[in-house]
Amino acid sequence: MNQMFPIGFEGPLAFYLVVYVLTLVVHVFLMAYVLAGSLWLAWVTVFPKATAGSIHGEIPRTKHPAARILRDWLPFALSGAITAGVAPLLFIQILYQQQFYTANVLLGWRWMVVIPVLVMAFYLLYIMKSKIISQWSLGIRIGLSICVAGSFLFVAFCWTTNHLLSLNASQWPVAYETGDAVQSLPALSLRLATWITGTFPAMGVLMSWQLRGMKSRTDSWRDVASDVNWLTLIEDEDRRIAWVSLAAMIASLILAFCYFLTLPEEVRSNLTGTAGILWIAVLLSSSGVMITGLIRQRRSHTGSKSWLIAVTGALFVQLTAAASLREIIRLTQADLSAVVQSTKAAAEIGGLVMFLVFTVLNAGLIAFCLWLVRRKQAP
Ligand code: HEM
Repeated sequence: MNQMFPIGFEGPLAFYLVVYVLTLVVHVFLMAYVLAGSLWLAWVTVFPKATAGSIHGEIPRTKHPAARILRDWLPFALSGAITAGVAPLLFIQILYQQQFYTANVLLGWRWMVVIPVLVMAFYLLYIMKSKIISQWSLGIRIGLSICVAGSFLFVAFCWTTNHLLSLNASQWPVAYETGDAVQSLPALSLRLATWITGTFPAMGVLMSWQLRGMKSRTDSWRDVASDVNWLTLIEDEDRRIAWVSLAAMIASLILAFCYFLTLPEEVRSNLTGTAGILWIAVLLSSSGVMITGLIRQRRSHTGSKSWLIAVTGALFVQLTAAASLREIIRLTQADLSAVVQSTKAAAEIGGLVMFLVFTVLNAGLIAFCLWLVRRKQAP
């Protein structure tokens, strides 16, 4: 690869790489809200009084604004993450058919249980959203929140294991004989930990927007406690989330660098060579904007809207850079001529118009649902 990704590839291959990366970014954004959000909920359920001593100490953290918003929105976000996962799932089968299917088969039962686990987590999210749960014992609520977060962690583990297995054709015979899908535990742990920590800034950005929107609608929370200054509580929560996002993003960058060190020499030189160096620069500069924005947000009493817009923009640039670097790693290890052939064949068959029609249709339906909910919530 002697040009910046995806420049220099043949037309159909470059096209499929671009649509794959862009659709994956949308999936990752929504998936991040689900994964980090469920971990946040599990944390506040296990440690409900962690903020005791503050002026809001008497309200358990499970009833704080962030937890309430997460319980309300996680089922919707999960369906969004799943829907948004379909597009990259289609493109990956065009780009890397053999690698993807082989890894699926070798993962075996672990791959097969992903869907039942997601279905179960989906229903559990609705139970967590229901009013009846407040009458249940703390033990059950803790068990439920851990079960939901554990399910999403398991799904993330499966996607990462599947991805790593698909990259390593020389490992396939051993994986088939032994049933062991993990070739290198350090590489898997570092990659998975990079993803998990990396989901918090994305969740934090979306949550910040939601908290801003909630400021004018705190009346509906009077049922929890009428003597609480919800506005102050929302601003405190916003700053806390900005702090967690900041720490998680720095951890994610460090973990990504450690993962980089585990990669073969050829892959590393492509990443730091012409193909990847500009993407690394984009990743680091967008992370710089996010870090500055999150610090500003943490310091500000009311939360700065212009910085939140800047952080949101930087987040999408950062995710695009990360997804592009991720693809350079894969392309270096893939059979390039097979990838060129399969994308050429797919381009001849067509289907783009159909894909676009259904994308617009789905986006319209999702927007319509959001509008209906907003209209119902409007004061
Ligand atoms: C909330 C549940 C889910 C979580 C937590 C999750 C998590 C992840 C993670 C962590 C990755 C990156 C793997 C890596 O690069 O190491 C990923 C990739 C991906 N996910 Fe999801 N995912 C979820 C649901 C789904 C669903 C239901 C679909 C399909 C409809 C999907 C489609 C994809 C695709 C196509 C990729 C790219 C795979 C690759 O390039 O190898 N995901 N997901």
